[in-house]
Amino acid sequence: MPSAPKKLFIKTYGCQMNVYDSERMAEALGGQGYVTTEVAEEADMVLLNTCHIREKAAEKVYSDLGRMKPLKAAKPDLKIGVAGCVAQAEGDEIMRRMPMVDLVVGPQSYHRLPAMEAAVAGGAKVVDTDFPAEDKFEIMAERPRVQKGPAAFLTVQEGCDKFCAFCVVPYTRGAEVSRPADRVLTEARALVAAGVRELTLLGQNVNAWHGAEGGLAGLIAALARIQGLERIRYTTSHPNDMDAALIAAHRDEPKLMPYLHLPVQSGSDRILRAMNRKHTVAEYLWLIDKVRAARPDIILSSDFIVGFPGETDADFEATLDLVRKVRFGAAYSFKYSARPGTPAAEREAPDPAVADDRLQRLQALIEQQTQEVMAAMVGQETSVLFERRGRMDGQWTGKSDHLFAVHVRDSGDLWGEVRRVRITGVTSHSLSGQILG
Ligand code: 5AD
Ligand code: SF4
Repeated sequence: MPSAPKKLFIKTYGCQMNVYDSERMAEALGGQGYVTTEVAEEADMVLLNTCHIREKAAEKVYSDLGRMKPLKAAKPDLKIGVAGCVAQAEGDEIMRRMPMVDLVVGPQSYHRLPAMEAAVAGGAKVVDTDFPAEDKFEIMAERPRVQKGPAAFLTVQEGCDKFCAFCVVPYTRGAEVSRPADRVLTEARALVAAGVRELTLLGQNVNAWHGAEGGLAGLIAALARIQGLERIRYTTSHPNDMDAALIAAHRDEPKLMPYLHLPVQSGSDRILRAMNRKHTVAEYLWLIDKVRAARPDIILSSDFIVGFPGETDADFEATLDLVRKVRFGAAYSFKYSARPGTPAAEREAPDPAVADDRLQRLQALIEQQTQEVMAAMVGQETSVLFERRGRMDGQWTGKSDHLFAVHVRDSGDLWGEVRRVRITGVTSHSLSGQILG
């Protein structure tokens, strides 16, 4: 009789690339007889796929590990692994701090998980935070993709060479690398064959993708030719890699969704320079104009950091001004967090109370803009890809072209369908609508 499968519980922190990586790690361990579980108590292995971007995210991992002590005490055979960017940044320091951890694996080494798991099953402790010469995706190519929903992430680019003064990514994810176009297309076709209708191409600097002639715009055009694939998105972009071809794709490629996440971080040229962003506020606004000219209904989103070292009241006011000028449909703002090993960590940051106050003011302004943009959707028609049944009978939830959550009531089976919907109302952070036709 075959033995019962072992159970793997994965908790994912941080960005969408970590969500993708968690899926790939589960697939890699599938070959070792693991199936995933949503219940940590029944797991034979727990993997925490971690994020190092801000101190809070990194510390959360240690408090979660602390909470797992009773699990390990009740089940001594339970294996505990730390993966992702904290694993990369802290390596075997994690095991020193948390001796219950059996395995530490960085974001570039997880194709080695099967061998690591075998070693750990034999009682060893393993740390692998290499940046290996071999390509993890190539090695894992033979593992079947497991796809659960109609919308999927697909990593096309990883790492960063831009070295913003605040950011750990160049250290945790390594240098910028693009996956070759043919490999991306092969994976995309497999996902579409498994029922995927929407792909979000992922990269820390996704628009720096250079896996083939034509850059990201060329890759999007090639993906758009896949029958059955209805929507394409990409994230996260850097303003300096927003080339004319990609902007034109927003005008010419109907499958490319009208949404652009383009982090600017600050509205002050002085702070942008201190952040080593290598662009000015005027250049950012010029880009936004170009993108809007190409696709007038595009929704723009961004990231902001407040309380960066040297940020004055006037710098912060300039950030508010930029937000007022652009009118974002969504934006994420964070209080600056000094990260070990980054250039800005050596500099003195503003008083935390001042930063808290700025964060609140910025978030209030962004929230007001989001509400205005959502309210303007009422009465409009949009397409929605339905991904989930609601809690109530006949209720369905999906994402609009502009990435807003939309709820409808319909007696049919809408799962995985793209349907035209008229937006009829706004409910805090989502829209409600009616299926047309
Ligand atoms: N402190 C605060 N926010 C940060 N981000 C990146 N590094 C830091 C840091 N040290 C934010 C940036 C980035 C987003 C993913 O996280 O806004 O775009
Ligand atoms: Fe966090 Fe950045 Fe790593 Fe993503 S790449 S998990 S955001 S540190």
